[in-house]
Amino acid sequence: MNTKLVKIQAAGDLSSQVKEAAALIREGRLVAFPTETVYGLGADALNEEAAAKIYAAKGRPSDNPLIAHIWDLSQVNLIAGEVPDAAVKIMERFWPGPLTIILKKKSIVPDGTTGGLDTVAIRMPSHPVAAALIRESGTVIAAPSANISGRPSPTIARHVYEDMKGRIPMILDGGPVGIGIESTIIDMSAGTPVILRPGYISLKELSEVAGTVLSDPAISGRKKPENVVAKAPGMKYRHYAPQGKMILVEGEKDRVIRKIRDLVSRKAAEGYRAAVLATDETIEAYHGCRADLIKSMGSRSDPNSIAASLYGVLRDCDAMKADYIFSESFFGEGLGDAIMNRMLKAAAYHLISV
Ligand code: TXA
Ligand code: MG
Repeated sequence: MNTKLVKIQAAGDLSSQVKEAAALIREGRLVAFPTETVYGLGADALNEEAAAKIYAAKGRPSDNPLIAHIWDLSQVNLIAGEVPDAAVKIMERFWPGPLTIILKKKSIVPDGTTGGLDTVAIRMPSHPVAAALIRESGTVIAAPSANISGRPSPTIARHVYEDMKGRIPMILDGGPVGIGIESTIIDMSAGTPVILRPGYISLKELSEVAGTVLSDPAISGRKKPENVVAKAPGMKYRHYAPQGKMILVEGEKDRVIRKIRDLVSRKAAEGYRAAVLATDETIEAYHGCRADLIKSMGSRSDPNSIAASLYGVLRDCDAMKADYIFSESFFGEGLGDAIMNRMLKAAAYHLISV
């Protein structure tokens, strides 16, 4: 299959490219498109055969449900059975935006989209290209991140092309995404709302609108969760793991730098290729160390910059065939914790405190 990579010039306007992409969605085919979080791999969520193509293209386990993307609030009642008042408040406050809400589903949503669950995950993205594509397609668009299962989510169209070339007919290139990590997921399908995946919208912000909000025990914490099953099926799978061994170091700044420099020199002496993931504030302190790649992920004073570059930097480590990846850590409120949730998984919870 030939994969067409199309640059969207004027985002938001109904360019002929968006119309062409929407026609593919209506035909039951796949289109990758930008959202404000990561690139998505879209198909008609109400067409079971179309949704099945997503699993095939990604190599994704079929019990891992997809998020249904809408462009207008009127679409909620089409797919969701019960919508509690608190969910309406949350939608009004955070949509369009990087938040996915789980509600009881209506039977119009096929089991093939929800992995057989009686709930559906719904998100209204704020990216103008995503919104225009959904609107033009006249349906709801199921879209996981547009990577091959097990690779980092794509944050630029080239990442999508690397993974999906030959597998899908079209990729809409809307430039780099804004946020860089996937949406927050909140389950509002029963009882007290629970965060199933941390993201840009924090627990604090959500509880300010919805009252008590819990965090799924399987997603918080610095250790690999034992004896708890993640409620979002996707969170239980081994997520992105770099080809090399990734090790996170946390603690006071100078100690972290010293530890990472020490680890690099030991591994370099053994003949391994090492990468260092630093920050704007620390990168100079690694000069002269024997790493094959030293990258800043952004500034500690701006966690958004770290989130935006994380997945791209991890892809760079694979591209240079790092045997070891030594990274600084970003524990903290809100976005820092969402970043660490992804990094701990990538590092298989390998964390050194100094
Ligand atoms: O930011 C995002 O959410 C991106 C963009 C493309 O919108 N999408 C995304 O999709 O991250 P994906 O498929 O990579 O992750 C969806 C997560 C999975 O962990 C899945 O198990 C969970 O959402 N999920 C979907 N439907 C669910 C449901 N009904 N109940 C519990 N978890 C659900
Ligand atoms: Mg994903």
